[in-house]
Amino acid sequence: MKIKTAITEMLGIDLPIIGAPMFLVSYPDLVVEVSEAGGIGCFPSLNYRTPEQLADGIAEIRSRTKKPIGVNLILHKEHNPNWAKQFEVCMKAKIELIITSLGTPRTIAKEIKSEGAHLFCDVTTLKHAIIVAKSGADALIAVSQGAGGHAGNITPFSLIPYLKKETGLPVVASGAISGGAQMAAAMSLGADAVYVGTRLIATPEAKSSDAYKQMLIDSAPEDIVYTEKISGIPANWLSKSVEKAQHLLTGEESKNLDEYKRWKDIWSAGHGVAQITDIKPAREIIIQMAKDYLSIISNLPRNGA
Ligand SMILES: Cc1cc2nc3c(=O)[nH]c(=O)nc-3n(C[C@H](O)[C@H](O)[C@H](O)COP(=O)(O)O)c2cc1C
Repeated sequence: MKIKTAITEMLGIDLPIIGAPMFLVSYPDLVVEVSEAGGIGCFPSLNYRTPEQLADGIAEIRSRTKKPIGVNLILHKEHNPNWAKQFEVCMKAKIELIITSLGTPRTIAKEIKSEGAHLFCDVTTLKHAIIVAKSGADALIAVSQGAGGHAGNITPFSLIPYLKKETGLPVVASGAISGGAQMAAAMSLGADAVYVGTRLIATPEAKSSDAYKQMLIDSAPEDIVYTEKISGIPANWLSKSVEKAQHLLTGEESKNLDEYKRWKDIWSAGHGVAQITDIKPAREIIIQMAKDYLSIISNLPRNGA
């Protein structure tokens, strides 16, 4: 099965589906399965404590798939003081796709291109989109309202066509893409690919606890809270996990809590929990999403029918 778009052509993949990088969730098992399904599996460099561990992680993925993969770099000194070293490791390992979030990729764009790799940048507003476009982004990841992790607050209905029109760059839709229906909606809005986060946590390959996976199944979109109080940046969280971790958020302890501990004990997810009813292999999710997308677009109501 192949679905051709500007992004599949650019990355040399069969399906316009990107396995979104997720802190403490996306490791080789998940990345390999998404890439083998025909999409592109991605993970955040921050999942590895040292550049050596990052290099080992990439080597493990490379030994299990020949398909392209992506690495997310958080370009923010406070959140990721080691990003420059991580970038060096990625370039040495010939990573095909670098995805940046927070900050501007100005200083690394040239090297990415000269290595034949591609640069996608997370954005939530036009202001940031224009900055990364000028810095050399090949595509934008439009992180809309309802996305898991650090999310924007603009509805995808307006954000996707807006960013595409204003910048002229290909756009990847991020936020609550849990199946073929959401993919069809995003592609109708002009997206060139979709970014799938939360749905891929409810898989055997995600390195999340069983309790986290079960909470995704048990939660409704009304159970998602959007707040900057947990990681310092507005993000979506499972309210049931926030309640369980209240002791971590109040009093003296909270001041010393590092990022790792926050994300480990407080679980992030987007509005896409509405469509998550089971734990399924990642490869199956990607292939089913593409099949459902094709069937949905061919069955949309038409003139006179
Ligand atoms: C648990 C979790 C961890 C995440 N970690 C990161 C990260 O380290 N870097 C990043 O750029 N985005 C991160 N994200 C955001 C995802 O890459 C993606 O934008 C988002 O999950 C898409 O929305 P969805 O979850 O509704 O599919 C994370 C999301 C979740 C749910």
